[in-house]
Amino acid sequence: MGRYADTYADWVRDPHEFWADAARDIDWVTPASDTHGADGWFTGATCNTCWNALDRHVAAGRGDQNALIYDSAMLGKVKHFTYAQLLDKVATFAGVLQRHGIVKGDRVIVYMPMVPQAVVAMLACARLGAIHSVVFGGFAAKELATRIDDARPKLIVTASCGLEPGRTIAYKPLLDAAIDLSKSKPSACIVMQRAALEADMIEGRDFDWSMEMEKARAAGLKPACVPVAATDPLYVLYTSGTTGVPKGVVRDNGGHMVALKWSMQHVYGINPGEVFWAASDVGWVVGHSYIVYAPLLHGCTTVLFEGKPVGTPDAGTFWRVIADHGVKALFTAPTAFRAIKKEDPKAELVKDYDLSKFEMLFLAGERGDPDTIQWAERALGVPVIDHWWQTESGWPMASNPMGLEPLPVKYGSPGVPVPGFDIQVVDEAAKPVAAGVTGAIVVKLPLPPGCLPTLWENEAGFHASYLADYPGYYKTADAGFIDEDGYLYVMSRTDDIINVAGHRLSTGGMEEVLAGHPDVAECAVIGVADALKGQVPLGFLVINKGVNRPMADIEKEAVALVRDKIGPVAAFKIALVVQRLPKTRSGKILRGTMRKIADGEAWTTPATIDDPAILTEIGEVLTGAGLGKKG
Ligand code: COA
Ligand code: AMP
Repeated sequence: MGRYADTYADWVRDPHEFWADAARDIDWVTPASDTHGADGWFTGATCNTCWNALDRHVAAGRGDQNALIYDSAMLGKVKHFTYAQLLDKVATFAGVLQRHGIVKGDRVIVYMPMVPQAVVAMLACARLGAIHSVVFGGFAAKELATRIDDARPKLIVTASCGLEPGRTIAYKPLLDAAIDLSKSKPSACIVMQRAALEADMIEGRDFDWSMEMEKARAAGLKPACVPVAATDPLYVLYTSGTTGVPKGVVRDNGGHMVALKWSMQHVYGINPGEVFWAASDVGWVVGHSYIVYAPLLHGCTTVLFEGKPVGTPDAGTFWRVIADHGVKALFTAPTAFRAIKKEDPKAELVKDYDLSKFEMLFLAGERGDPDTIQWAERALGVPVIDHWWQTESGWPMASNPMGLEPLPVKYGSPGVPVPGFDIQVVDEAAKPVAAGVTGAIVVKLPLPPGCLPTLWENEAGFHASYLADYPGYYKTADAGFIDEDGYLYVMSRTDDIINVAGHRLSTGGMEEVLAGHPDVAECAVIGVADALKGQVPLGFLVINKGVNRPMADIEKEAVALVRDKIGPVAAFKIALVVQRLPKTRSGKILRGTMRKIADGEAWTTPATIDDPAILTEIGEVLTGAGLGKKG
């Protein structure tokens, strides 16, 4: 057997011993009394995540090594932070939080662009045992308000603005609007002022980041790490569920550290001291796990990149960052590579850079399409690894385990189950299906360390969303199959989630927004194929009888409404007025058939359809809009 099979077999033989062994790589204040008890992983243990990410490395002599390299293609600026420097900033900001009354268990929302202060704020929360909840900057005020009401933060940390190509996004007015909308009000906001656009401050509520840091420094406030239970929450990260209400995925401290540290070595094949770059955003799970926590827990140098794969300034930016900082492995979403490929199809710009230290490219967030993977292999001459995971898992569930042993790549598959995950494909009765047969992808319980123990203050929702449908298993809501060699293939979602440029969005959430337009009687949102973003949302609107306005105006308003209520990240740009929506006789909207028509795939009229003529009408509207073909 190879090293992967051996390791997987070790885990199967004794999962407790396997994880107890991995836990030896973490510093504990008090060791666990039980590896996996009723309340989760490493019961009885106390620990601190910030200690393991920073203090322990400084204590072990890594203080002068770069912990974080901030590379802003937006500002044309690079800044290095050694472990000692990052620790100093984090401990000082923990002092700021403490002065504002933050203690263990309090929630702090971080609504920031890709600046080092976001990482400092996250780690400072961890230092105090406070629970951070980072909200992605591309979400609008209403989405932020929903999260504020659910997490009820005592304090919010933000920046005056974010920088997108060609425009500066004022964050502070969005935050002010969100606080106005929410029932729960934070007692203070700490605002990092950026030169591109300074924010107006509200007297008594808003505090300037730099001034607060100076005050904490002057007061000599640098709180030590507060021990927390391994099972205490480190953070809550909201992700799209099947409705407009996001789910607060909880991450614990102990299991999370053990899983992430283990993954750096065994999945990603990275050694302490090496440079790892996840080109994502701290607002997503990839950013939490592989920009912030995993590389630092492992003693690596992490790169925080503010920019885009193209246009900042060109499609060679990624290669420049890799060359300048000696990156060993890059992790991003396939959509970033599709964007680069579109701009520089022959990968000419690669030749301008020294990529000699670069060894691996990891892709996740959406299915790695074989074309993109093969293009990247040719362009870069390194292994390109598709791997599969979710906000809920926090780390890869299936991968090519590069650190254990590189397995042969099968295009279209994100690889094999990672030790810790017993992945099965089942039918509706929760019975495993044969190799090659498509079904629901589930993971046998218990989930390994690092995976969500619950949803924030919503244990019932956790059970209903993930555990109820397939007793004894965790439901991933992905569908696919496992082939005869044990490789997984993830083909689609089983719910209304779509994947837009690697971002997870609920079409149900968009429908809720569209239904709020006064002229809209009924609507349906589907995800249609897009060469760059993988999928983009498309909305169909049925207009109330008697509305006598140009339909094009209503379509424009619908697009603006989704941007305003959910945010630009939804990339909702197409709304089409139709006479009727196709439905089954029981009234279920036939979204799947509409998607096939829009994507130009072969489709058949469902036997249960109420009125087949409606599908023809839909096809005509799509053709009129330059989309779709009739199957
Ligand atoms: N704050 C405010 N607005 C933001 C934002 C932020 N942090 N991030 C994105 N937006 C806006 C963008 O400006 C864009 O607005 P527009 O409609 O006015 O153009 C919209 O949200 C959609 O953004 P994005 O998905 O980034 O699309 P894009 O067209 O700007 O760029 C890619 C396309 C492929 C280059 C881009 O999606 C990308 O780099 N993806 C990398 C993959 C990734 O980060 N995946 C995350 C999980 S690994
Ligand atoms: P998120 O929680 O935002 O990370 O989104 C998770 C979802 O993205 C998964 O449930 C899948 O639907 C999809 N996804 C992530 N990675 C992959 C992959 N490598 N292949 C196919 N789908 C993926």
